[in-house]
Parts: sequence; structure tokens; C-alpha cells
Amino acid sequence: MQTTTAVDLGDPDLYTTLARHDRWREYAAEDAMVWSGPGSSPSGFWSVFSHQACAAVLAPSAPFTSEYGMMIGFDRDHPDNSGGQMMVVSEQDQHRKLRKLVGPLLSRAAARKLSERVRTEVTGVLDRVLDAEVCDVAAAIGPRIPAAVVCEILGVPAEDQDMLIDLTNHAFGGEDELFDGMTPRQAHTEILVYFDELITARRASPGEDLVSTLLSDDELSIDDVLLNCDNVLIGGNETTRHAITGAVHAFATVPGLLAQVRDGDADVDTVVDEVLRWTSPAMHVLRVTTGEVTINGHDLEAGTPVVAWLPAANRDPAVFDEPDTFRAGRKPNRHIAFGHGMHHCLGSALARIELAVVLREVAGRVSRVELVKDPSWLRAVVVQGYRELPVRFTGR
Ligand code: HEM
Repeated sequence: MQTTTAVDLGDPDLYTTLARHDRWREYAAEDAMVWSGPGSSPSGFWSVFSHQACAAVLAPSAPFTSEYGMMIGFDRDHPDNSGGQMMVVSEQDQHRKLRKLVGPLLSRAAARKLSERVRTEVTGVLDRVLDAEVCDVAAAIGPRIPAAVVCEILGVPAEDQDMLIDLTNHAFGGEDELFDGMTPRQAHTEILVYFDELITARRASPGEDLVSTLLSDDELSIDDVLLNCDNVLIGGNETTRHAITGAVHAFATVPGLLAQVRDGDADVDTVVDEVLRWTSPAMHVLRVTTGEVTINGHDLEAGTPVVAWLPAANRDPAVFDEPDTFRAGRKPNRHIAFGHGMHHCLGSALARIELAVVLREVAGRVSRVELVKDPSWLRAVVVQGYRELPVRFTGR
């Protein structure tokens, strides 16, 4: 089915309530293809929602590129200026090279090595929040863990980590928050300035970290190094914090889940995948066609921007029974929360370990998680995220 609509699906106001799922479900069930005219994106864009259409756009062999950008707002005439340099918006040789260089630092083996660090961070966070009358999980738990992990990967020295974690929390905490008088954009700029200094330090004295690894490749410019540190920073923080918050949300709202995880009656890896499907923090990815292609019976010419809405695909009723229901034992679970194809998330093993540790540690220390208030949602279009999730924990 094809639809032309006056609705600008790049408008962040559409995503601040759960009504977003009704819209996505309707579009996915119809296998709709929706055109949003110029607005949030200067030239407009097509959207797909069903699992099959999103997977087709992202398939390795599909005639699509992310080199012009991978978010609404970019297209062939308005390209992302990191295109061809930053991993997620590069293709072919540059993309292959970067995945090969960065991959080992984020691999399953590397993630396993980092799991102790994750556990220490989770334990520390829980020590601080368990006695509080009310805990806003979106601020106090979700962001802290991924920020600590990314600091380890980047090789941020221990004495700078708290400062960088604070800056990171702020940079990705939503557009409407202010921190020390800094906007999120300013906080992000501060981080890039810090990376610049870290690059100078690692050039003089290399280590085993991401910065040193990127610097070891003579073909990469300093700009390439900076952009790819930023890719891991953004990729590692912006999404994982909301999946972690969503795991606690599931404990508060899915009857019996806490006891199932604590007593070993639920397979934690299976629960992790259901958290990923149910929360789907990466809201969309954009591609631009590199040649003529037919999607859902619609002929698109080269240079056409198409957006795949991942949370819609992850609740597509054609693929998932009772898609809105969190099922701890859902199997198979062919969610595409980490994307699909050539750019499939390189940090997925790390994100999975972070979530597994959070689920186990919370279940081990808490007998009850109660929602104090329904969550509020970020006014955002790139991530589907929690603005606030106030809960009350009862310790064991
Ligand atoms: C790519 C989601 C965690 C690093 C992606 C993509 C998605 C995604 C959808 C594909 C983007 C595209 O196709 O254009 C997620 C989710 C996460 C998560 C939902 C957590 C729940 C992480 C972590 C890291 C990371 C922890 C690193 C520390 C990356 C990188 C890419 C990527 C480097 C680019 C891969 C490439 O272009 O080949 N992620 N991500 N992500 N992610 Fe993640």
C-alpha cells in the first residue's frame, strides 16, 4: 500500500506519547509507504514500517547508502558532513576498514572482559539509589552504565571519568534539560574538545584503547579519529541508556518478571532480546537510494531518502504475536533493534552484556519495583527514549 500524507513524520512532537505505537502498528499492518513532504527534512522523505520492508531497505545487497547521513534531515542535496569518514555514515573500503579496526574492541570477548566493570558500576549505582524514596531511573541508572563502559573503551583515564560521564549524561539527556548552564549541544562540544586532548596524549603514549587503535592506522586523519570516537560515544550512550531504563520499566510492569529472573526461571539472554524489541531505542535509520529500486510496489529513483522505523518493525503483528506484550520467553525474536545488514550495530554484544548485568543485579537486590508515575518520553525522533521513569524500589 502507498500513502501520501500531510503528516511530517520527522516532527518530534508525534513521539512524546504511547499513541506513537498505534500509528506505527497501523502503518506496519498495512505495510504502508508514507511520504512526508519538506519540513523536518528539507526535501521530504519516504517511510517504511513493516518488518519485511525495513529489512529490505537495510539488506546488505539493497541499493541504498548511508553516506549522505542516517537520520531525518539529511539527503543527497543536504548531506551529513561526516559522510565517508564516520563508520555509521561510510560505505565500502572506509566502512570495512573501520569495522575491522574498531570491531575487536567491541567484540563479544571484549564485552565479556568489560562485564566486571559493568557489574561494579551497576552495584555502585544501586547502592546510591536503593534507599531513595523515589528514583528516576532515566536519570540515575540508565545513563551511568553505558557512559562508564564507553569511557573504558575510549581509554579515558580514571581521574577524568566522572567528569566525562557527567558531560555524556548531559549531552544525551534530551534537548530540554540544562546542566551547569550548558545545552546538550554545548556538552557534546566539550566532549569533542576533551577527545582532542586525549588524541594528543595517546599519540605521545599509545595504549590498547580505541583512540590508540584508530591512531595506529596511518590512512586515518585526526578528523577521522575524532569522528569515530564520537560514533562510539553516541552509539554506545544514546540508545543503551534507554534500553537499561526500559529493563527496569519491565520489572515494574510485567507481573512475575523480577522473580523469574531472580530464581533463574527466565533465560536472561532471552529477556535481554525482549527488552531490546520492546524498547527499540533507535527510532529510525535513513538511507538514500543509489539506483532505481522498487519498495512495496513503489518505484523510487536514485537519490530518494527512505526511513525505516525500527520500533514499528519490532511490533509488526505479522512477525510478533501480541507485539505490545512483553514476553520474557519470546522465541524466536527476530527484532531489528540493532538494525540489519552492513551497519548492524557493532556494539550489540556490549549492549547485551550491560542489559544482562542490570537485569541480574536488580533482580538479585530488589524484591519489588513500583511505578510512582507513568513514564514520560523524550521529545525526539532519533531515539525512542525515556524522559523520566520514577520508581520506588523495595530492597530484599
Ligand atoms: C550501529 C542500535 C548500542 C556502537 C547501530 C545501528 C543501530 C544501533 C540501529 C545501525 C545504524 C544504521 O544502520 O544506520 C543500537 C542499540 C543499542 C546500541 C539499540 C543499545 C541498546 C551500542 C553500543 C555501542 C554501539 C553499546 C558501542 C559502544 C555502534 C556503532 C555502530 C552502531 C559503532 C555503527 C556500525 C556500522 O556502521 O557498521 N546501533 N546500538 N552501539 N552502533 Fe549501536
